[in-house]
Amino acid sequence: MKKFAVLGYGTVGSGVVELFYKNREKIEQKAGCPMEVGYILDLRDFPDSPYADKFTKSMDSILADPEVSVVAECMGGVEPAFTYLMQCLGKGISVATSNKELIARKGAQLLAEAKAHSCNCFFEASVGGAIPIIRPLHRCLAANDITAVYGILNGTTNFILDKMLSDDMSFEAALALAQELGYAEREPSADVDGHDACRKICIISSLVFGKHVYPESVKTVGIREVSLADAAAADALDGAVKLIASVRRLEDGRILPMVQPMFVPHDNMLSRVDGVFNAVMVCGDGIDRAVFCGRGAGKLPTASAVMGDVIEAAKHQCTVFSQDWVDSGEQDFVADADALCCGLMIRIANGDAAALAAAVGDRCEASAVVDGGAACYTTCLNAVEQQDLLAELNNAGLQVVSALPVLDA
Ligand code: HSE
Repeated sequence: MKKFAVLGYGTVGSGVVELFYKNREKIEQKAGCPMEVGYILDLRDFPDSPYADKFTKSMDSILADPEVSVVAECMGGVEPAFTYLMQCLGKGISVATSNKELIARKGAQLLAEAKAHSCNCFFEASVGGAIPIIRPLHRCLAANDITAVYGILNGTTNFILDKMLSDDMSFEAALALAQELGYAEREPSADVDGHDACRKICIISSLVFGKHVYPESVKTVGIREVSLADAAAADALDGAVKLIASVRRLEDGRILPMVQPMFVPHDNMLSRVDGVFNAVMVCGDGIDRAVFCGRGAGKLPTASAVMGDVIEAAKHQCTVFSQDWVDSGEQDFVADADALCCGLMIRIANGDAAALAAAVGDRCEASAVVDGGAACYTTCLNAVEQQDLLAELNNAGLQVVSALPVLDA
């Protein structure tokens, strides 16, 4: 019998309990042993819950029970989650967490503690909700030299951008709807300002490139400045605006993690990922590209990933070494954002598409007439070339109202 505890009975924690009892027979068959929820830790009372006898307010009672071999952490936030998980790992109790803030800030320490005590810290649910991406990255794709990962890693912003385009909704109305449907975080800034996606790309970057990448090192731009006109221009240019979290390895060996709204042409699969769905594109020398797609948020989708980790933890008696990175400092490892070479989607408020295409010249990939002006997107340019182009357009009397980077993957 493997007894596990669930920390936090919010959306995800209650989903973990619900999914376990719904599919218990299948889960036990996959785990290869009988399983039981031993405890649910929450400061609130749930007297009417069918699991009322499992609730505790005491982490110590969980730590003191020698039968607890796995803990699922679904509380969110760095503390007290970090302290609790370090206590579990210190006793050789494996943990499964959906907490991206915790892993983005403290992943290296948690992994080191797990290694020191021959257990595991699993975090599949922290990136992409239901999408299996952490385990594929360090296991199924382990034979590859992975050079870049591009993702739509925040369901709320993808939903908002989609609504702006498909239903002509303002940013504010789409955000209100996302909150009403329960997609947005309690504090919408984490979603709309890109911090949530930033934490997720930090986790992916650390896992793929082996050194802890902290959120402060990642240029992060949210979607507040994306207008309906930008979304319409992207549509006219046969693409879409998406909040893209990306990391790529540069030729000099440094890595460039970023979060920003980008124009994604429709020949890239990420452009068609709509609504609350997330997707991750992995580029490697063996696979070329592989795309993973699924529900990035929500109760049961996230619980599915947590429970998958609980099953893995129940099966593994020792540390999984492929899922590891070190905290060896970021100096000379993370490049500045201006190292990015990419095209620009440019929207002007005066002039026509022909005038814009002529001014951009052979750097123009495509141009289109849009409401109140014109838009185009360019070939790949470095930071200096981008500034030169914008200056040239200005000198030509064309009034640039927005310039979004282009995803070329
Ligand atoms: N608020 C997050 C999102 C939830 O919208 O993707 C999952 O991390």
